[in-house]
Amino acid sequence: MNLKEHAKEYILKNPNENGVYVDFTMGNGHDTEFLCGVAKNGKVYSFDVQPAALENTQKLLSEKGHTNFELILSGHQNVKEYVKEPIDGGMFNLGYLPGGDKSKHTMCETTFKAVKDGIELLKGGGVLVISVYPGHDEGRREGEMLLEYLATYDRKYYSVMNCRMINSYDSPFIIAVEKYAK
Ligand SMILES: C[S@@+](CC[C@H](N)C(=O)[O-])C[C@H]1O[C@@H](n2cnc3c(N)ncnc32)[C@H](O)[C@@H]1O
Repeated sequence: MNLKEHAKEYILKNPNENGVYVDFTMGNGHDTEFLCGVAKNGKVYSFDVQPAALENTQKLLSEKGHTNFELILSGHQNVKEYVKEPIDGGMFNLGYLPGGDKSKHTMCETTFKAVKDGIELLKGGGVLVISVYPGHDEGRREGEMLLEYLATYDRKYYSVMNCRMINSYDSPFIIAVEKYAK
């Protein structure tokens, strides 16, 4: 099973081509590019703290002909300063940029705030998908923190799924939070 493709399936369960989506960890722009394709007539906000991520993503999206995006050089913990409307979905791909500076990784405290705010922004029927990489120390802490925190969400309003390989403890895993439509 391919984790990246599986993360996309959660978004594709209830896609909205006029919708608003957020890529909370832009990196080289692959998830932003995917979301731009989902929200063909909508908008994608994408966050990263590294200028190189914005440069690489701008290049990728221009090559693919997308114009429905806003790239934001800021931490995802500031999402509510930039996104003022309800969102149809969002993606987190935690950790560090492959091939980039490994010290610029996501951190428990800011990830917690971004996930909490992202869930508050979700429309009914919307999904937040988080890919977690427990193979490094901060990634393991992020995973443990998110599993503990997200287990507290009320079952009446949210489903919170965890998809992981139970025979490979350090392998990446997915948490998907769906807010039920009213
Ligand atoms: C695993 S990479 C993301 C890969 C990306 N989804 C892609 O398709 O290429 C994680 C990214 O999160 C970024 N990051 C770290 N802390 C962040 C924060 N507080 N807010 C937003 N992005 C952050 C890193 O700079 C890195 O580019």
